[in-house]
Amino acid sequence: MSALHARRHGGTTVTDPTGTRHEEARDEAREEARERAVAAALATLDLDAKTRLLAGQDMWSLPALPEIGLKSLVMSDGPIGVRGVRWTADDPSVALPSPTALAATWDPALARRAGRLLAQEARRKGVHVLLAPTVNLHRSPLGGRHFEAYSEDPYLTGEIGTGYVLGVQDGGVGTTVKHFVANDAETDRFTVDNRIDDRTLREIYLAPFEAIVENARPWGIMTAYNQVNGRTMTEHHHLVNEVLRGEWGFDGCNVSDWMAARDTKGAVEGGLDVAMPGPRTVYGEALAAAVRAGEVDETVVDGAVRNVLRLAARVGALDGAEPAVTELPAPLDGDALAREIARRSFVLVRNQGALPLTRGRTVALIGAAARDARVLGGGSAQVFPDHIVSPLDGLTAALPADALAYAVGADPSDELTPAGQGFTLRAVCRDAEGNVLGEGSLPGGQVQWIGDDLPEGVTYDTLHSIEVTGTFTPRESGEHAFGTRGLGAFTLTVAGEILYDGVQEMGDEADPFEAFFGAPLERGKAALTEGVPVEVSLFHPLGQEHAAPLPGVMFSLVHLGPRRDPDELIAEAAEAARAADTAIVVVATTERVESEGFDRADLKLPGRQDDLVRAVAAANPDTVVVVNAGSPVEMPWRDDVAAVLLSWFPGQEGGAALADVLLGAEEPGGRLPTTWPAALADAPVTEVTPVNGELHYREGLFTGYRAYDRAGTTPAYPFGHGLGYTTWAYEALELSPESATIRVRNTGSRPGRETVQLYVAPVDDRMGRPARRLAGFAGVEAGPGETVEAEIGLPRRAFEIWDEKTGGWTAISGTYEIHVGRSLTDTRLRATLTVGGTD
Ligand code: BGC
Repeated sequence: MSALHARRHGGTTVTDPTGTRHEEARDEAREEARERAVAAALATLDLDAKTRLLAGQDMWSLPALPEIGLKSLVMSDGPIGVRGVRWTADDPSVALPSPTALAATWDPALARRAGRLLAQEARRKGVHVLLAPTVNLHRSPLGGRHFEAYSEDPYLTGEIGTGYVLGVQDGGVGTTVKHFVANDAETDRFTVDNRIDDRTLREIYLAPFEAIVENARPWGIMTAYNQVNGRTMTEHHHLVNEVLRGEWGFDGCNVSDWMAARDTKGAVEGGLDVAMPGPRTVYGEALAAAVRAGEVDETVVDGAVRNVLRLAARVGALDGAEPAVTELPAPLDGDALAREIARRSFVLVRNQGALPLTRGRTVALIGAAARDARVLGGGSAQVFPDHIVSPLDGLTAALPADALAYAVGADPSDELTPAGQGFTLRAVCRDAEGNVLGEGSLPGGQVQWIGDDLPEGVTYDTLHSIEVTGTFTPRESGEHAFGTRGLGAFTLTVAGEILYDGVQEMGDEADPFEAFFGAPLERGKAALTEGVPVEVSLFHPLGQEHAAPLPGVMFSLVHLGPRRDPDELIAEAAEAARAADTAIVVVATTERVESEGFDRADLKLPGRQDDLVRAVAAANPDTVVVVNAGSPVEMPWRDDVAAVLLSWFPGQEGGAALADVLLGAEEPGGRLPTTWPAALADAPVTEVTPVNGELHYREGLFTGYRAYDRAGTTPAYPFGHGLGYTTWAYEALELSPESATIRVRNTGSRPGRETVQLYVAPVDDRMGRPARRLAGFAGVEAGPGETVEAEIGLPRRAFEIWDEKTGGWTAISGTYEIHVGRSLTDTRLRATLTVGGTD
């Protein structure tokens, strides 16, 4: 290869320019001192203490070992906030926008600030290790945790993930980059065997992990539930010991995904350091016994313990070892940062002059999610913010009272949903005699206590029943439906009347996650009056929960307000739209559509929302649709509306950020981190259900835009697309073997930020490579009429392939076109680069 010796993975924007050699030498000396402290601590531990340290002591922590001055290491999800060790709103957390949104900012420096805020939150909650970021890829839009991963592109994922990890670690808190590797869908996730050829594995699925290990040196990693090519990732000696640790030099701690470690010898020899959660794990006593029986070599255990102690030393949990960070970054304002990231993440995919709204216009705001915002995705990524700004809240604060009208239009869900709006509930825990043991507050009527995550003063030994009790104040008069989600016995009472008294048995669906995320069941109705509070109680005596491998109590009180005729609701919304200057419709997915634990069945907006948009657009040509979804949805009406703004799951300040952007105080800054298909059938991968336990990644390298390029299919909106409120001219591209310099001019009338994107396209490729790949990007800002230069490094990897024959990377000589522009398909400038090489 010619003089292409730029950094392998680029990432010019995330590293602090202040990193001098002097500092590096000091860091190295500290690292060595820490390593000595770790070795000294390890040398004093006996086998039982060592094996105990490798096993969770409860849901979220490892045991303390006071004899060596080791504190209990505490971990917590992750990725948009820090929930802490309890699944409760009693200890709220800042909720940032979801990972797809963070990636849509295309700004690793902003991701780094997000990381710093999360470290600050972690410290506040006594958490040492954040169970994040998720850097699996958007292989298929059906993936249930799509919202929780960054992008379809490994390079963008690696850059955002690098920024995030650096930020968390700047605050002296560890991360577990997850889920290593290929946990790209949820169906049968504990067992699925993902069959992936080596080249695809290296160039696509391992690539973000490799980049983050190289550029951010993470202190932890989490291995995935699934298998890769016949071996579960919890025991994958080759990928963990040989690739991650051997080739890439990862020196952090490897934590299992929750309950994924199933075999003592397989796991420890496969490179797994910590089995979570506890107390019942395959490590601890079982591991000590395996060593004593001569089945496992004690040096293997020592290696794992060393990794845990190193992590503890880095986060400051080991006495005598200087933590990696001794001076914390300046504190950040969580609400302000959540709002900034949200507006920087919104992707304006279509704008026929409707946005920003001009002053003095009246607005009809429409949609259930405009009032009851969906700000985060479901599953372990859930946190409890202390407030949520809905679009209705945001616009109410920003517009004069007589300029805003609201209509629900259509509800995305005709199912009962967790008892949130209008409910004030608490969980009362009692013993067998009916004495109160303790109480917990309960947002959304959901009891989700796992492991020791019980209210103060309550233990499984004494806990006999839980009563979810409090009041409900309806916001509409009519028939309100109430119900339950979960297994076991329930007595449901509303306004003094017993609506249900019975037992819900486990059905054919033997997955305990079904109880957690599963279908809500209607149990009865009550006629209620708007504004008049009633008493509500859901009584649940415990069954065998405490005897389960992981004790837990999971059930919910669910509710649905009076059902109105859907046609009437849509007609009312259309009427409101007609009476206003601009109609803003917020459409959304629900927690039954996008969540951990299952994949999506289709990409349709649930309920009558498509009909709603069509009716509103017919009533008012100035209709703006805001799409509140963590991953792609079909938008069959997209060419018939004036503007479409993707707001993702925007975090707690979403509504405030939306008002900023709609009214033009700020421009929407996002670019698509993933191709938005016109219809599911066009997506490169539409099958996420394993056959005979196997899921074949047959498409190889051709996921996302690579596949659209090859098939010649036009998506709804291409990778990298997103409009701001100003316009840009691309004036010049200068290329050196290491980098590209691009001059752009803000040709509009307001300041703006442009994400300059660089794609590498091999000419006359004979190596089976995709037509183009993202190789770099940079964000630049300029005032009206100003020019600004973006400098983008050319990563060596953009010119290499993984050679399955040699088992290594090979640079491919030849001619490459360099495309720079506003998106994958909006190329503004091109140049040619000739690369010499070894082939
Ligand atoms: C998820 C992980 C998460 C862990 C702990 C697992 O089910 O896959 O991402 O960190 O639970 O909540």
